[in-house]
Amino acid sequence: MEIFLDSANLKEIERFSDYSVIDGITTNPTLLSKENSKLEDVIKLCKKLNLFIFIQTLEDDYLKIYEEGKEYYKIYPERIILKIPFSLEGLKSLKLFKKENIPYSVTAIFSLSQIILSLKYEPKYVIPYINRIGRYGGEPFKIIKDAKTVIKDNDIKTKILSASFRSSKEIEEAMVNGSNAVTIPSNIFEEILDNPLSKKAIEDFKRDYFKI
Ligand code: G3P
Repeated sequence: MEIFLDSANLKEIERFSDYSVIDGITTNPTLLSKENSKLEDVIKLCKKLNLFIFIQTLEDDYLKIYEEGKEYYKIYPERIILKIPFSLEGLKSLKLFKKENIPYSVTAIFSLSQIILSLKYEPKYVIPYINRIGRYGGEPFKIIKDAKTVIKDNDIKTKILSASFRSSKEIEEAMVNGSNAVTIPSNIFEEILDNPLSKKAIEDFKRDYFKI
């Protein structure tokens, strides 16, 4: 099982790495721009902290996607995993990455059929967008469950990395339904770590012990 932080915020990455609960981080162009973070700085930090980092390509044409992805990969080949957004050109680029053993995932997944087509190229991960699928009327957890069956039945090594969460309940459902990994935004992480009921239980245990 793997847990990633969905963030491009340098301070958050450092803090969560210190908690020792994350295997790495996932970024996308929106997260980078929201945090005003330079991709080079985020990669440098992940290198220092020994974290995996998912980097999303921006190009539209498959050869350009391939060139772009190769440039990222060169910076930190030990732990960079490319995120290729699902599209015809994106799929075409996978063949080239596969040939060179460059690790890639397929992101921006909204349906089981998109997962099925992606599996043809055995990506390291497929990344379904849980909350967004639900918002558009889809059934994200059924997609994960069915994808798991397809992956098993065809003896494929691809893992399901669920993303786009708005609550811890969604994370629980994604894992119960067969996700191998999740990427969690910092606010949900904090909420899980900072449970007032756990805090109260710990305080009660201490108070009771010192009564002896
Ligand atoms: O990592 C991709 C994912 O973060 C997209 O999620 O929150 O923008 O729906 P969101």
